[in-house]
Amino acid sequence: MTQGNVSSSRHADLLIINGTVVTPGGAGCLDIACVDGRIVAMGALQNQWTADTQLNARGLHVLPGVIDSQVHFREPGLTHKEDLEAGTRGAVLGGVTGVFEMPNTHPLTLWREDLQAKLDAAKGRAWCDYAFYIGGSEVNAEQLQTLEALPGCAGVKVFMGSSFGDLLADNDAVLRSILRHGNRRMAVHAEDETRLRERKAIVEASGDVCQHSEWRDVTSALNATQRIVALAEAAGRRLHVLHVSSAEEMQYLARHKRRVTVETTPHHLTMAAPECYQRLGSLAQMNPPVREQRHQEALWHAIREGVVDVIGSDHAPHTLEEKAQPYPSSPSGMTGVQTLLPVMLDHVHAGRLSLQRLVDLTSAGPARIFGIEGKGRIAVGYDADLTLVDLAAQRSICNEWIASRSGWTPYDGKSITGWPIHTVIRGQMVVRDEALVSRPQGRPIRFLETSEANSALV
Ligand code: DOR
Repeated sequence: MTQGNVSSSRHADLLIINGTVVTPGGAGCLDIACVDGRIVAMGALQNQWTADTQLNARGLHVLPGVIDSQVHFREPGLTHKEDLEAGTRGAVLGGVTGVFEMPNTHPLTLWREDLQAKLDAAKGRAWCDYAFYIGGSEVNAEQLQTLEALPGCAGVKVFMGSSFGDLLADNDAVLRSILRHGNRRMAVHAEDETRLRERKAIVEASGDVCQHSEWRDVTSALNATQRIVALAEAAGRRLHVLHVSSAEEMQYLARHKRRVTVETTPHHLTMAAPECYQRLGSLAQMNPPVREQRHQEALWHAIREGVVDVIGSDHAPHTLEEKAQPYPSSPSGMTGVQTLLPVMLDHVHAGRLSLQRLVDLTSAGPARIFGIEGKGRIAVGYDADLTLVDLAAQRSICNEWIASRSGWTPYDGKSITGWPIHTVIRGQMVVRDEALVSRPQGRPIRFLETSEANSALV
């Protein structure tokens, strides 16, 4: 904590006063001084610091910036659904300060040039900080160790089951090779491709979206999860299982926590079958599917037990026209980056998790499991990435608020208590009073384990 008086005043770029600040030590009333993008002092600072910009956060909670470690921003190739500008604009309006973007674009993100093209496209257009996954596939398996260490790379992502796009690695020999060529935590979409193909006839015959979770059933997810965990253990590789959707997977993963980290999503925690399919039709169609209530309850139980490490949105936009195709031709995916925090704050309000646990899942968790440099907590020396929320604010989520090029949310009309008010990224106010006030100044996220790569990032 800073000592001093008016005569020895110091000057900050941004001074945030009177907020209830959520630190690793708990929540307390602290002021925060930011200089050159970093937090430089915390405490009772008002008599000691002057600032270019002063923000009075009375009545607000100041959280570490939310990091969404699973978004699909569709650029290049599918920018009628989403692009890096609109996707990251939605992110900051929803209180998200950093994103990891997925490789199932056109072209796929498989090579150095693909990654560089995304980094070039994000420069000057991304509103928040960003990193991009490299897709793991048969064609690039042997180069993955080099590729995953490139600047701006979030790591390797593997699709074991087809979801959207052409990225697929479903046989054990290829998966083994991918796992052996690299060190970083590998992210996986675990659904069993063979079983998905066998069972697709169920929904082709009925055309009924209510059967989405019967086609892509629990066994499809569990089989793939068990296979990839066994392969990762044999290869000595750390693993991150994305969007875990079932009670059975959570029970299994709880026994493998030492090597394996776990993500679940707001939609799996908020919606349940069959109600969501009856109400939303194919707008609720997502892979892996939203399942019955008992699964949702098991996901909450896994959050309470500490089995879940992160909440990611799996923001996966398709246009309303595309979603209106008859099921199962309708593509799977829904928007989520902008609604992740509001929906989760509403769960905090309802008493389903504490604010401290939410911060653990959306800031500290991603930083810890992916080795993000200088983000994920409010601490002196860390990046001044801050999400200021009003826990009592009541709002309705609506399609008009959604920045995504696809222009819709499955939560249209949902009443929420708890809302992001200001978003600060590296000491810059990007959203103030729920409106954009800056310009896109996002930068690549840096990782601890790729320090050589970091030196290439300016
Ligand atoms: O439903 C989904 N859609 N799940 C995924 O994991 C990917 C995705 C997409 O890219 O549309």
